[in-house]
Amino acid sequence: MAKSPAANSGGSNEYVTLTDHSTGKSHDFPLMPGSTGPKVINIGKLYGQTGHFTYDPGFTCTGACESKLTYIDGEAGILMHKGYMIEDLAEHSDYMELCYMLLNDDLPNKAEKAEFVKIITEHSMIHEQLKTFYDGFRRGAHPMAIMCGVVGALSAFYPDSIDILDPVQRKITAHRLVAKMPTIGAMAYKYSIGQPFIYPRNDLTYAENFLHMMFAVPAAEYPVNPVVAKAMDRIFLLHADHEQNASTSTVRLAGSTGANPFASVAAGIAALWGPAHGGANEAVINMLAEIGTPDRIPEYVDKAKDPEDEFRLFGFGHRVYKNYDPRAKVLQESCHEVLNALGIEHEPLLDIAVQLEEMALKDEYFIEKKLFPNVDFYSGIILKAIGMPTTMFTVLFAIARTIGWIAQWKEMIEDPTQKLGRPRQLYTGATERSVVALHKR
Ligand code: CMC
Repeated sequence: MAKSPAANSGGSNEYVTLTDHSTGKSHDFPLMPGSTGPKVINIGKLYGQTGHFTYDPGFTCTGACESKLTYIDGEAGILMHKGYMIEDLAEHSDYMELCYMLLNDDLPNKAEKAEFVKIITEHSMIHEQLKTFYDGFRRGAHPMAIMCGVVGALSAFYPDSIDILDPVQRKITAHRLVAKMPTIGAMAYKYSIGQPFIYPRNDLTYAENFLHMMFAVPAAEYPVNPVVAKAMDRIFLLHADHEQNASTSTVRLAGSTGANPFASVAAGIAALWGPAHGGANEAVINMLAEIGTPDRIPEYVDKAKDPEDEFRLFGFGHRVYKNYDPRAKVLQESCHEVLNALGIEHEPLLDIAVQLEEMALKDEYFIEKKLFPNVDFYSGIILKAIGMPTTMFTVLFAIARTIGWIAQWKEMIEDPTQKLGRPRQLYTGATERSVVALHKR
C-alpha cells in the first residue's frame, strides 16, 4: 500500500488517498487540521475500507485523541499550555495558576486564583484512616511503590468522587487529587525514615507546604527558604502536563474503561516510575555520582554510544523533542539560582553535568540522533541541593503531573467522541492446531 503523492487541498475537505497495490483499489481518508501543528490522517475507517490495521509500535506516529491542553513542537523545542509558552508561564505565572487553567478555560484572575488556592489548601489533609496503609509497607519500600498503593486506595475513601458521570464530582476529584498528592508523597518519605507524619498547614503555599511536610518535625519547624520554594514551584509547573506521554496515555486508557479517576491515576503513577519516563531524574543523579569525576566523562559518553552496551545517558534524548527541551533550559537557570541562594559554591555533580552536556552536544552521535538534555537533566541537581532524597525525585514528578493526568482524564470523559481504548495487533504466533492429549505430549 503506498501513499498517494497528491493529498487534496481545500480546507476541511482535504484527504489522503491510499492505494493498495495488491488490489489496485484506492481509498480516501480525511485529513484533520489542528489549531497548529501537523494535520492528522483520520484512519478510523481504515479496517472497514481496506481490511488492514496499522502497525506503529510505541505509537510514534499515532494520535489517540483530540486535546486542547498542551501543544509540543519537538523539532522547534516548543511547549505550550493553552497557547502560553512554558518559559512565559515559568516567568510570569505559577503552578496553582497553571493547575487552574488546565481545569478551566484560561489563567485565573485574582479572585479566581484566591478561591482556587483556598479550595486546594483546604483539601490537603487526608482521611486519618489512610495513615494505617503506610504501616503495611516495609520501611525501606520505594516511595513510588507506596504512592501506587495509597493513591489507588483513595477510591475506597472518597466513594462519592468515583461517580465519573457527575461533572461536580469530577471537579472535586481533581481538586482532591492535586491537593492531597504532596501530603501523600511527603508521608511516604516520613514513613521511610521513621519520622512522624507532618500535617499540612493552611498558611503555606503549595510548594512551601510540601517542603514543610517533608522536612519539619514535631520538635522543630522547617523555615522555608523563599528561593527554594520558588524553585520547587517551578519544578511543579514545568512537569504539570506534557500531552500524550506514557503515563498520561496510561491514565486515559485506564479511564476509558470507566475505571474511577483514583485508580486511573494510580495506573499513571506506575507508568511514570520507569527510568525511560519519570524515573530518569533519579537515574541522572545516580549516573552523575557513578561518573564521579570529570575525567571519566568520555568513558561514559563512549558507553552511551556503544551499540553493544545498553547504557544510555539519562537526562538525554526524548521521544518528541529533537531539540533542546525548553523545560531543561528553565531548570538550568533555576539550578544556578538555588545553588547561589543556598551558598553552595561548588557542586561536583553540577560540574560533571555541565561538562557532560558540553561534550555530548559536540559529539557527532548525539548531533546526528538529535539527543539534547531533557527536563530531568538539571532537576535532580536542584532537588539534591535542597536536600530532597533521590528516591523522592520521581514522587515529585508524580505530584506535579497529577494535574496533567486528571485534566486529561476529565477532558476525555467530557469528549463525546471518546471510546474505550483498545489497540489492535499484528499476530505472529502459531496458526490453528489441535490440542494433543497430555499423556501424548
Ligand atoms: N543515550 C544514548 N543514546 C540514546 C539516548 C541516550 N540517552 N536516547 C536515545 N538514544 C539513541 C538510541 O540508542 C537510538 O539509537 P539507534 O537509532 O542507533 O538505535 C536512537 O537514539 C533513538 O532512540 P530511541 O530509544 O529509539 O528513541 P525513543 O524516542 O524511543 O526514546 C527516550 C526516548 C527518552 C526513552 C530515550 O531518549 C532515553 O532512553 N533517554 C534516557 C532516559 C531519559 O532521560 N528519559 C527521560 C525522558 S524526559 C522526561 C519524561 O518525559 O518522562
